[in-house]
Amino acid sequence: MQNNPYELAREAATALTERTFEKFDVALVMGSGWVPAADVIGEPEFELPFTDLPGFAAPAVQGHGGKVRAVRVGDKNALVFLGRTHLYEGRGVDPVVHGVRTALAAGVETVVLTNAAGGLRPEKQKIGDPVLIGDHLNLSGANPLTGTSFLDLTEVYSKRLRTLARSVDPELDEGVYAAFRGPTYETPAEIRMLQTLGADLIGMSTVLEAIAAREGGAEVLGISLVTNIAAGLSDSLLDHEEVLAAGLAAAERMGRLLVTVVERL
Ligand code: 6GU
Repeated sequence: MQNNPYELAREAATALTERTFEKFDVALVMGSGWVPAADVIGEPEFELPFTDLPGFAAPAVQGHGGKVRAVRVGDKNALVFLGRTHLYEGRGVDPVVHGVRTALAAGVETVVLTNAAGGLRPEKQKIGDPVLIGDHLNLSGANPLTGTSFLDLTEVYSKRLRTLARSVDPELDEGVYAAFRGPTYETPAEIRMLQTLGADLIGMSTVLEAIAAREGGAEVLGISLVTNIAAGLSDSLLDHEEVLAAGLAAAERMGRLLVTVVERL
């Protein structure tokens, strides 16, 4: 197997396209809480476990899937990842963005990144609300790029795609997503710091994949599902079950949103 991560992604794309569609238009990464919405996207023509493709690891956390689907949505070929690798798993940054790089190598020009996030604005966010990511704070301590490519990140999350998403679901709010490495949730002091920094959402994913997608020239749409209110902002403590339950409750709305966005790309 290749040790150059871009070559490895090309190998994975070849293995994928030999067994599914020849080429893909759009990739959707379904984060925790979003796996139930994947069933609303459509019946898959093909479904493979991650472990069938070079460079993919089985996900570490329950509720994170571990499969890729090839789904026909309108006139588009969609590649749907059920689950992702996180930086907190300790495998390094390349495995975190391998799915996105594989999708790019398989031809995608649009990458939809979804996640479960803690809400930092309880006065306007409700559990189960999808929120468009307008920008991010990469506080993960990592970056998928090395060397001197100095990629411009003025518009990581496509304005055009945010407008398109809002035309489908006018209730959608928009916010700044901050990512920590995890795996711990934040302390109340860290949450107050993030609010001061201008963050609206907090999670442990997405930012590195968005950078990798932009490096490859794809347009990115990011959507967080608010699965809980961040530490110290409400009376309740945080647990993973709550995150999964919020996803189940909002699956239909999120799935319909994704289908319609892909149909109108
Ligand atoms: Cl509160 N924090 C982080 N880092 N990730 C989350 C979360 C909070 N809620 C869902 N995912």
